[in-house]
Amino acid sequence: MKEIELKFKVSIYQSPEELPEYAQKLIHLAREAAKRAYAPYSGYLVGASVLLENGEFITGNNQENAAYPSGLCAERTALFYASSKFPKIAVRALAVSALSGEMLPGEFAKPCGSCRQVIAEYEDLSGSPIEIILDGSSAITVVNGIDTLLPFRFKKEYLGKKT
Ligand code: THU
Repeated sequence: MKEIELKFKVSIYQSPEELPEYAQKLIHLAREAAKRAYAPYSGYLVGASVLLENGEFITGNNQENAAYPSGLCAERTALFYASSKFPKIAVRALAVSALSGEMLPGEFAKPCGSCRQVIAEYEDLSGSPIEIILDGSSAITVVNGIDTLLPFRFKKEYLGKKT
């Protein structure tokens, strides 16, 4: 038996002002998008914002439905819209912000497993890591690339497809 240890780097910032201007804008846009979320069932409002290689900023938020699985998370709403409007334009960075009455101190927004898989798809498409900015109640956590959030993920190569 052999054990391997995986290491990853996470950067933690106390406030948006510590981050570059584009990241501050992404955080602002994600927070604003969270306020517009349609989440009457969970009451958990999530906003996401995306910066594309062409300089476009796109936002999305979670959209719920009385038939629960029919809804969609904020991250995928933003990414799918970005890709539908600007196909194959690389995603440079993504910010996620959540508003909840019960957000624990020190807690920060975390994309669900399905959203992580979708982030990975667009990262693979461009071939360069997406900076993921996770907004929190007392700090902002930044990771460079989806591998940190989704190690050992499913990849399109397993399907024998290149594109
Ligand atoms: N949600 C998101 O929008 N993003 C995530 O990554 C986690 C969960 C939404 C889905 C649902 O509307 C609500 O949060 C509660 O799960």
